[in-house]
Amino acid sequence: MKLEDLLSEAKEILKTSGVHNYKFEAEYILSQILCKDRLSLHLDFNEELPLEDVFEVLDTVDIRATDKIPVQYIFGQANFYGRNFKVDKNVLIPRPETELLVEKVIEISKKFSNPRILEIGSGSGAAAITVALENQNALVTSVDISSKAIEISKVNQEKYGSNVVFSVSDLFSNVTGTYDIIFSNPPYISEEEYKTLSDEVKKEPKSALIAKDNGLYFYNKIVELASAYKEKDSYLIFEIGSEQGKDVRALLSDYKFVSCIKDYNKHDRIIIATN
Ligand SMILES: C[S@@+](CC[C@H](N)C(=O)[O-])C[C@H]1O[C@@H](n2cnc3c(N)ncnc32)[C@H](O)[C@@H]1O
Repeated sequence: MKLEDLLSEAKEILKTSGVHNYKFEAEYILSQILCKDRLSLHLDFNEELPLEDVFEVLDTVDIRATDKIPVQYIFGQANFYGRNFKVDKNVLIPRPETELLVEKVIEISKKFSNPRILEIGSGSGAAAITVALENQNALVTSVDISSKAIEISKVNQEKYGSNVVFSVSDLFSNVTGTYDIIFSNPPYISEEEYKTLSDEVKKEPKSALIAKDNGLYFYNKIVELASAYKEKDSYLIFEIGSEQGKDVRALLSDYKFVSCIKDYNKHDRIIIATN
């Protein structure tokens, strides 16, 4: 079978089964299995493929289409900030929106000579590791309540040779010291909204997505507890749901400067608070 025909078939199967991003996902599956970048897929469109590659692609497309397993879990990796991180069903797949959070953390960290940075909710470790790699002067600590997430974070840390201190902690329960920046992309989906999510998103850990109090529980708790772990001029930086700007701002009334940054889709996405 020709590469071009296999790509068309993969797109068609995914489209028919309701995969929203079917073009991208078909190309992603072929590029992973055939070990080609996406441009080469199009340049080599006439290539005759060995049968085993064809079967492997079609089997994978079938798993994606039928079982609704995100491609990142199928291949065990997700791209974040230009690097590939190991992921599995125990961790949230890092999102492009979180790259904006990380970009702001890196930018602000450069105001400090040796910034002490704390992340609440490591997940795959992609955010904390990226911050540590992009600002080598930073001393980064990252905690998660899930020991399985911390295991994955440590595998990713090993891969990139960063020096983040990862540990299991329920919010600040296992955190000591003070920090110049405390940042988090906490679970922020309400129980109601969770019901509307796609089958694919529901394959991700519920504990990484859902928060009580209409999605605001973790912002509330982190704002309340953070005061014992920061200095006067420290920053609190959150990723938020697109509809949460007003509510999260209201929690930050003790801070002099609070700004909200929109993502590339013009949705409220990042809140930065400092004094
Ligand atoms: C939305 S995910 C973010 C993961 C990662 N930072 C990212 O952006 O891809 C939220 C993370 O918070 C963790 N979490 C949930 N409750 C927590 C708690 N009480 N203390 C610490 N971490 C918690 C979850 O296990 C999950 O890994």
